[in-house]
Amino acid sequence: MRIVITIGGSVIIKDHNYKKFQDYATVLRDMSAEHQVMVVVGGGSTARDYIGIARDMGASEAICDDIGIEVTRLNARLLITALGEDAYPRVPYNFSQAHEFSSLGKIVVMGGTEPAHSTDAVGSILAEFVGAELLLNATSVDGLFDKDPNKFPEAQMIEEITPKDMMEMLSDKDMKAGTYEFLDKTAIQIIARSKIRTVILNGENPENLKKAINEKIGTLIIPNPE
Ligand code: UTP
Repeated sequence: MRIVITIGGSVIIKDHNYKKFQDYATVLRDMSAEHQVMVVVGGGSTARDYIGIARDMGASEAICDDIGIEVTRLNARLLITALGEDAYPRVPYNFSQAHEFSSLGKIVVMGGTEPAHSTDAVGSILAEFVGAELLLNATSVDGLFDKDPNKFPEAQMIEEITPKDMMEMLSDKDMKAGTYEFLDKTAIQIIARSKIRTVILNGENPENLKKAINEKIGTLIIPNPE
């Protein structure tokens, strides 16, 4: 099975600790023995720091996004380093490159592509582009919650949701560089149209990625009925 995995920067680069990269590499290697694995890595607090500096100097949102993209690619390089021989050695800059690199059977790891969306959107477009059967979104919480679980202890995890209901939850959020908290509009729209099976799960424990293949875990996004 072809699986696309997006790993939030807030998960993988959070502690600036090499162990998280190695733990992910171990799980991804295991998964790639049976599946074709492609990974998209986010920028995390490092991207937000860089974007903040650029914004303080009056840079446009598009330039800020572009700086964020560079950071996601750096994080992708760290994961490639952790994967060693099992990864394709270069970070693809676009979807056709990613598709091409995957033809050699190695794990492909990329970051962002162009301004105005998140790496979650990149993951959903990549999944559509390569015809993946499963999209796994590794975040810092257990799944999608009805409100921010870091701010509201009473927040409830949603086990299943349609893209339409997710869009409604997003409708009052803004679109500034570095501010996305969960799947952005582009990601949701692509998931809706490609009808790809998508699971949002807790990436603090990378083993959850393996679990999501066979078990019910996190939040399942069910594409809208026709
Ligand atoms: P992400 O917001 O995707 O990083 O990219 P992230 O680390 O996964 O976010 P967390 O972990 O959920 O908090 C960082 C920034 O890079 C720009 C955006 O500004 C984004 O906020 N970016 C990234 C793009 O503009 N285009 C891309 O394709 C990817």
